[in-house]
Amino acid sequence: MSIKLKEPAQIEKMRRSGRIVRQVLDACARLAVPGASTMDLERAAERQIRDLGATPAFKGYRGYPCVLCTSVNQEIVHGIPSARRLLKAGDIVSIDCGVVLDGYYADAAITVPVEDTSPKLQKLMQVTREALYQAIEQARVGNSLGDLSSAVQQHVEANGFSIVREFVGHGIGTELHEEPQVPNFGRRGDGLPLLEGMVLAIEPMVNAGRPGARLLNDNWTAVTEDGSYSAHFEHCVAVTKNGPLILTE
Ligand code: MF3
Ligand code: CO
Repeated sequence: MSIKLKEPAQIEKMRRSGRIVRQVLDACARLAVPGASTMDLERAAERQIRDLGATPAFKGYRGYPCVLCTSVNQEIVHGIPSARRLLKAGDIVSIDCGVVLDGYYADAAITVPVEDTSPKLQKLMQVTREALYQAIEQARVGNSLGDLSSAVQQHVEANGFSIVREFVGHGIGTELHEEPQVPNFGRRGDGLPLLEGMVLAIEPMVNAGRPGARLLNDNWTAVTEDGSYSAHFEHCVAVTKNGPLILTE
């Protein structure tokens, strides 16, 4: 077990991968309209990734069948795109995409409303995104992993929502999942010291209700135990001597 620190030139490569992920997510967000299927997003994403000269990171990873994860409403993460899953106004959908370009991975996710959604769900999405950015703010040399994790937990819980504990963020680089694991809960000062050249995929998953998760029979889709809705945002962030550098925006 070891953490692979990245040189600036490697981080620059990851930034190119990250830019492609961002373009794909932006395009998918525009396609998330009432009547579209999650497979429509998948098809557009795969075409765009290949047109941009990159390779999808998820398809074939441990047998996962698609280039996107599309997780609707009470689905937390790893929802599998389907032509039968039609989006409707008021839904929220997490779109998660990873690519590899020139040997370097990037991975990011957004949650978007389909047309308009309720104020409660808008707040769920906003708090999850804010929690991600507060964690990113902690991704500095001299801080610890626990500083980052606790930033997520505190913001989410202060707003009355819950942190999913079954899934965590991760290091990323020449593999999709590298060490260390990046939990969305923890205590200030705990855990590894953050070092220059670490690249972390930070990905809070936040439930509107209770924190519990369970797996559907497809062995991929994670849903909330209590049926409450869930949001998910993810960025890849490099710890640099000049502070946190977001590679996926
Ligand atoms: N962002 C997710 C992760 O880092 C998506 C992985 S989907 C998989 O775990 F299919 F590749 F596993
Ligand atoms: Co990830």
